[in-house]
Amino acid sequence: NQANSAFEAIGEERLHRIIDIFYGHVAEHPELKDIFPDNLTETRRKQKQFLTQFFGGPALYTEEHGHPMLRARHMPFAITPERADAWLSCMGQALVEADVEEPLRSYMFERLQQTARHMVNTVDASS
Ligand code: HEM
Repeated sequence: NQANSAFEAIGEERLHRIIDIFYGHVAEHPELKDIFPDNLTETRRKQKQFLTQFFGGPALYTEEHGHPMLRARHMPFAITPERADAWLSCMGQALVEADVEEPLRSYMFERLQQTARHMVNTVDASS
């Protein structure tokens, strides 16, 4: 139900702000920066589309890119438990810095945490 979705509560402008702040942290993070492209413009744009639909807004990602198949799309990258934690720490900071209030902040974080765990595809950090 889109009228009652988390996306409605967050608002498009704030969701975009969260994602911009998030990639600012990713670009600086020692565990993450090497697996992301130097230019994050397109990554940011896709993530805005994806998280809009993930939180119950319009299916912008699917309309342009088809089924998300997120785990498959992450297979080219070694997603270790350490990198999942790093990703979540960047996102946790972004939620605070974008002034997302409780209980919305915890709701968003928990859903992202489940998805991040699901993305783990590599156990050894050296591989
Ligand atoms: C793409 C890393 C978790 C959503 C990517 C890319 C990397 C990456 C390296 C490719 C960026 C590019 O080439 O533009 C990671 C790591 C994660 C993680 C290390 C740690 C667990 C997540 C989670 C979500 C997510 C939890 C969603 C809630 C996406 C989306 C894309 C993407 C939508 C773009 C896919 C496309 O190319 O269409 N991620 N990711 N990722 N990630 Fe993640």
